[in-house]
Amino acid sequence: MLFKQQVWLRQKLLVLGSLAVGSLLYLVARVGSLDRLQPICPIEGRFGGRGQAEFPLRALQFKRGLLHEFRKGNVSKEQVRLHDLVQQLPKAIIIGVRKGGTRALLEMLNLHPAVVKASQEIHFFDNDENYAKGIEWYRKKMPFSYPQQITIEKSPAYFITEEVPERIYKMNSSIKLLIIVREPTTRAISDYTQVLEGKERKNKTYYKFEKLAIDPNTCEVNTKYKAVRTSIYTKHLERWLKYFPIEQFHIVDGDRLITEPLPELQLVEKFLNLPPRISQYNLYFNVTRGFYCLRFNVIFNKCLAGSKGRIHPEVDPSVITKLRKFFHPFNQKFYQITGRTLNWP
Ligand code: A3P
Repeated sequence: MLFKQQVWLRQKLLVLGSLAVGSLLYLVARVGSLDRLQPICPIEGRFGGRGQAEFPLRALQFKRGLLHEFRKGNVSKEQVRLHDLVQQLPKAIIIGVRKGGTRALLEMLNLHPAVVKASQEIHFFDNDENYAKGIEWYRKKMPFSYPQQITIEKSPAYFITEEVPERIYKMNSSIKLLIIVREPTTRAISDYTQVLEGKERKNKTYYKFEKLAIDPNTCEVNTKYKAVRTSIYTKHLERWLKYFPIEQFHIVDGDRLITEPLPELQLVEKFLNLPPRISQYNLYFNVTRGFYCLRFNVIFNKCLAGSKGRIHPEVDPSVITKLRKFFHPFNQKFYQITGRTLNWP
């Protein structure tokens, strides 16, 4: 009797075991085929040439590891050749504005698997000496990427430098141009804070912001002060519009990029004709830093350097009011030209 029961139990276990193994095998096969069947989102739009549009972004994401290794010097020339890595001229440039959040924007866009950033500011178009070295020199400064990816560089000095629009136009008249702006008075103070920090590092004294921003003789806003001039965005933009139509520009709200980066980045993805790939997962608020930081994956995340997000010195409120009043008509014009209204006072 006991023996019969044991045999029956063994047979039952065998059946159950086979069922479990069978189900497992079915699941593995199903998941595998699902993976293959899943539609792979192409990189759409003007950036993709024929064939490029079919490149799976997941593969790009996977291959980024190789790019990273290459930048660290861990990948051989042979591997570069094998993987078709190239140094491409930028398809989009963050042309400014200094202290608008240009670094944050570049780093955040670099979260997108189809974007590769030029880490350093190259200053090709604003620096005569660099410009004289020619376009090949510029291209060689670009990071390695896959042909389906787009390279983005940022040099905020481009926005305010006279010769730059024409030079960029000569390189690529259909290039996409990103401008990140902040409320003009805050940006001017941020600009001042950066210079002040540099002076302090060299043990030098510096004027107070109020003294630089307001002409002591006239008590009017000092338009000769560079930090003030840079914040007259419309004046600079008008020079650019002699070469590029407004459709080729995208305005990023730098103040919103600080508090709510994702929607701003999604607008940029759209402008660049990239499929939406940056998600809330990629951005997390770091309480210690007081800013959003970047999460590439479970292992790798980073915040911007400490030089981003400095504490500004206190500025006389009457000077702030005067500056805001001064910038107001220029801001209105800027909104009108760009079609983007920002909530500046
Ligand atoms: P402050 O230092 O005045 O706060 P840029 O990169 O063009 O020099 O701009 C610097 C500004 O980027 C900083 O100005 C900071 O406010 C802003 N910024 C935007 N997002 C940021 C982020 N996630 N981390 C740090 N700084 C950020």
